[in-house]
Amino acid sequence: MTLATQQSGIRVRGLTKSYRDLEVLRGIDLDVVPGSIVALLGSNGAGKTTLVKILATLLVADSGVAEVNGFNTASESAQVRASISLTGQFAAVDEILTGRENLTLVARLRHVADPAGVADELLTRFSLLEAAGRRVATYSGGMRRRLDIAMSMIGNPPVAFLDEPTTGLDPQSRTEVWDCIRELAGAGTTVLLTTQYLDEAEQLADRIAILHQGRIIVTGTLAELTRLMPPTRIEYVEKRPTLEEIFLALVGDAHPTHDPRGADSTGAD
Ligand SMILES: Nc1ncnc2c1ncn2[C@@H]1O[C@H](COP(=O)(O)OP(=O)(O)OP(=O)(O)O)[C@@H](O)[C@H]1O
Ligand SMILES: [Mg+2]
Repeated sequence: MTLATQQSGIRVRGLTKSYRDLEVLRGIDLDVVPGSIVALLGSNGAGKTTLVKILATLLVADSGVAEVNGFNTASESAQVRASISLTGQFAAVDEILTGRENLTLVARLRHVADPAGVADELLTRFSLLEAAGRRVATYSGGMRRRLDIAMSMIGNPPVAFLDEPTTGLDPQSRTEVWDCIRELAGAGTTVLLTTQYLDEAEQLADRIAILHQGRIIVTGTLAELTRLMPPTRIEYVEKRPTLEEIFLALVGDAHPTHDPRGADSTGAD
């Protein structure tokens, strides 16, 4: 049986997963076209991380099929792992090292040719060049997240999973991370991101899939969903960005390159 299809990107059919008696995924069907961004929208506990973990081969589904970049997550897990990047809610960066050192370290560990060159290219791509020589301990939340995403892109995997990439970030940092995600997709990476934020899906996604009670209850472009949703939901979508616009107008949207705590903690107290 040929499990790999000609189409790469992500393809999921009838995926189920339970934790003991708790049925979390009850038959998921999902397609992500190569080079596009799909936002998987769902409330707390909907099963977003569970689905991402299955696609990233960290968990095994109970039944159904999942293919990533043309490879089956169950039978071709090594090829899937070589095709993906995964960033979770907590940035996997080393605080003591600088941004550049974090990147070169991971590039060396992955045996990439020219680790220093790769680090500089990623620092430029994700607008971290100015802060490259500073310890990560001095970075803002948005800068850490961007560095984390940059690190995950070493080796240019064709598929990126971003699990709640902006949870816990202030609006300004969120827009910086959004720019970084747009940059990823613009360069041809297939992106599946999970989010609880309607405005994030609205800002970034080519298609939005809503996960509810174990199933993708609806999937489509924002325009398609807008036509489906009752007016009360549409009103909610439109209110959030307005508040953020007010916030950004009040605080200004200059991109801070340093943290108020200063570049080094000298313990002068
Ligand atoms: N290892 C586990 N063992 C038992 N139950 C689990 C396990 N992992 C997750 N769950 C439960 O499965 C459900 C789905 O969890 P999951 O983390 O996939 O949701 P989520 O959509 O990512 O939520 P959040 O938005 O809070 O991150 C939740 O009810 C969670 O408590
Ligand atoms: Mg989660």
